[in-house]
Amino acid sequence: MPENILVTGGAGFIGSHTVLELLLAGYHVVVVDNLNNSSGASIRRVKELAGEHGDNLHFHELDLRDKPALQKLFTGTKIDSVIHIAGLKSVGESMEKPLMYYNNNIIGAITLLEVMDAHGCKSLIVSSSATVYGWPKEVPCREDFPVDAINPYGRTKPVVEEMCRDVQRADQEWKIILLRYFNPVGAHQSGYIGEHPRGTPNNLMPYMQQVAVGKRPALTVFGDDYSTGDGTCVRDYVHVVDLARGHVAALRKLSDPDIGCEVYNLGSGKGTSVLEMVAAFEKASGKKIPLVMAGRRAGDGEIVYASTEKAERELNWKAEYSVEDMCRDQWNWAMNNPDGYESPDP
Ligand code: NAD
Ligand code: WQD
Repeated sequence: MPENILVTGGAGFIGSHTVLELLLAGYHVVVVDNLNNSSGASIRRVKELAGEHGDNLHFHELDLRDKPALQKLFTGTKIDSVIHIAGLKSVGESMEKPLMYYNNNIIGAITLLEVMDAHGCKSLIVSSSATVYGWPKEVPCREDFPVDAINPYGRTKPVVEEMCRDVQRADQEWKIILLRYFNPVGAHQSGYIGEHPRGTPNNLMPYMQQVAVGKRPALTVFGDDYSTGDGTCVRDYVHVVDLARGHVAALRKLSDPDIGCEVYNLGSGKGTSVLEMVAAFEKASGKKIPLVMAGRRAGDGEIVYASTEKAERELNWKAEYSVEDMCRDQWNWAMNNPDGYESPDP
């Protein structure tokens, strides 16, 4: 019997790509999402992309904190494992509305774990973030580095990580994998699914995409006086399809009886500066990106990239796509869907 995987947040950017990879790998998938930052169109398009596997995807529009609804879902469907991706993720918004972030990200996780526990489902993968490292004193960031999150969104992640560790310590039937993503970008090669930020994008790639399609006049580069090769910040960009496959690798690892509660970085292991990213995107799109050089963005750190050794060794996972691939696929998504999921189907 194929395993039944519940994916929370499966309509969002990372969730939709993960659901597609799971379906293609032969899993049956149940998605729970409140569509707070996503669109049902992503689910429909994932079904189409999955071809003959598309019928193995079922969607429930509900908020994770709605415990009775979640209980009903678990009562009606046997869930083998859960991939918990749902969450609010904007750093700036979390500084303005910290309680909204703590409420959504922490109560959501508690409710999910309680319902899983009550139904004897104790196999879990959780989205965490490189944000837990804050600004590390050295790179590459290893999983055993101290946790030092520096904003309310970021602080919700170590809280959920610790909660998972405590749950697993108390009951060793639980098997939990915490995945710390670095900077996910790009889109599925089909140009059919991708990231659709609501309002003004905060992150580099979606902002640059909107400049390239003429929706915004210029990209503001936050700081060119860092101690890096070209003075701009260095990050670890990872293709969202690689990241999605990392979840399939983690799911396989959950069958290891000794897994306990483990944490893995999912990144490319390579550092790329803002200006290198701009150059790669200009090459992929054939568009000139007008730049406005500005001061440093509050809260930004200089250089962050992942050590990927542990994921390579224990999950047998390694990012395959280059920055050029990420930019090509981001641009393909942008060209096919100038208004994201509000565009007609390509
Ligand atoms: P996203 O906003 O595209 O997807 C998150 C999904 O969760 C959305 O579809 C949203 O509607 C849903 N959701 C949020 N709260 C919910 C709730 N209470 N009940 C049900 N559904 C809910 O974001 P994403 O980029 O796909 O990020 C997914 C996860 O990865 C988040 O947990 C985020 O913190 C983490 N992460 C993201 C990044 C990044 O840069 N995108 C980096 C590191 C970690
Ligand atoms: C990348 C670089 C900016 C926009 C964030 C979250 C982190 C994680 C991933 C969820 C930085 C520069 C950006 C722009 C710019 N998310 N930049 N002009 O800050 O590394 O990480 O997303 O967990 O928690 O903090 O990503 O894409 O915002 O920025 O110059 O308009 O691009 O200064 O150096 P960041 P980002």
